[in-house]
Amino acid sequence: MVTRTIEPVSDGLAQRIGVIGAGYVGLVTGVCLASMGHNVTLRDIDAAKVTALNDGDVPIYEHGLTELVKANDDRLTFTLSMDHLVERSELIFIAVDTPPTYSGDADLSRVRAVITEFAKAGGGEGQVLIMKSTVPVGTGERIRAELRARGLGLVGYCSNPEFLREGTAIGDFLRPDRVVIGQFEPRHGDRIEALYRPLGAPVVRTSVASAEMIKYASNAFLATKISFINEIANVCEEVGADVDVVARGMGLDPRIGPSFLRAGIGFGGSCFPKDVAALKQLAGDSGYHFQLLTSVIEVNELQKRRVIGKLKKHLGDLEGKRVALLGLAFKPGTDDIREASSLVLAARLLAEGAVVRAFDPVISDGVGERLRGVDMCATAEAAMADADAAVLVTEWDSLVGLDWPALRSTMRKAVLIDGRNALDSEAMIGAGYTFEGIGRASVRSRAVTELSDTQDRR
Ligand code: UDX
Repeated sequence: MVTRTIEPVSDGLAQRIGVIGAGYVGLVTGVCLASMGHNVTLRDIDAAKVTALNDGDVPIYEHGLTELVKANDDRLTFTLSMDHLVERSELIFIAVDTPPTYSGDADLSRVRAVITEFAKAGGGEGQVLIMKSTVPVGTGERIRAELRARGLGLVGYCSNPEFLREGTAIGDFLRPDRVVIGQFEPRHGDRIEALYRPLGAPVVRTSVASAEMIKYASNAFLATKISFINEIANVCEEVGADVDVVARGMGLDPRIGPSFLRAGIGFGGSCFPKDVAALKQLAGDSGYHFQLLTSVIEVNELQKRRVIGKLKKHLGDLEGKRVALLGLAFKPGTDDIREASSLVLAARLLAEGAVVRAFDPVISDGVGERLRGVDMCATAEAAMADADAAVLVTEWDSLVGLDWPALRSTMRKAVLIDGRNALDSEAMIGAGYTFEGIGRASVRSRAVTELSDTQDRR
């Protein structure tokens, strides 16, 4: 939710901004900058997307974005043409995909294409290219060399990594924890700092290489926190402790902090898996074996599969068993299923011969190949009817708030796995479910742990 209004800059200070790539990052960046009073040209190669945006239809699900596009449409131009963008823009953000290749390296072909097109479109002196896409450390240096080789040595280049979370991206952009600006020349960094000044966030000015590394290191550290707490959860299950209480007790130490200590069935999304793999690869390419990240990735993969073991414990062989997957998105608040735990889980269940029925509040079609063999249902109730087991995969409020006791009676058997520790275990057991969370103790020991936790606070 956007709570703070940023006063748009006066006309005299409005910048002419270009954004190349109208995906999550590019769209949010462009639209937020327009809301700050700047004139923004967004360019994408997808004609259907550009047409939709020009008609006021936002092709992605991001909280508040449609409204912000509407409110600022007089300062937003959507185009297919690079010439058009280059002609109209001085500060040009690059926000194109850098997906992982088979080797785990980041695929920079789209970034390279942008540089070629920028040169062809007559880009030159006075313009600054600002890299928002996550690119391996050293990319900025290579792009600078390429610009020079093309006779474009006077074009500025900065790295300005994004830290936007899907679902809260607009708030993250307008109220950032920090703004990181990597520069070759201070005068170019100054222009970007001026752009962000109204947001009042701390600004880290650094070299391009350090800025590129800040992005990777931040995501890798957060992913490490998640894999760490997931391993603690797995040990908790063995020794009768409760990971939620353990995380709370740990997180009160300011050196640890409470965030990113929610145990679950693994992290997904468009950033963490790809960035962790790319940093590991980057280290490997420069001769360093990043052992910790190897484990972070492996723990995450195993975590997604642990649900299968839990289901087998209660149902035996899964051949022919009906399993309902509730939630498919990699987290609530988004329609994104890239690298979602649901994909691995569904594929594993199908490989075991189970019948998989799934429901997600915002994903109903378009999942195609990625969930081939999964029976998509229109409601959670339909997915759970006659099921032997249900797995809460994504903790959408509407799923957490289901009438679980009533649903219990519609199931054939009533095994319930809470993959996100979002449900009240005692209430679920009370409703007659055979219930398992992640790293949660039995009801009895959980009650005891929480009692002493309350006493400690007195
Ligand atoms: C992330 C970073 O937070 C953002 O700064 C970066 O720019 C892009 O990648 P996002 O991919 O939107 O953002 O997701 P985030 O909210 O960070 O969650 C990532 C994954 O970790 C989700 O699958 C989530 O379920 C999982 N997660 C998160 C946990 O399992 N436990 C936690 O405690 C936190």
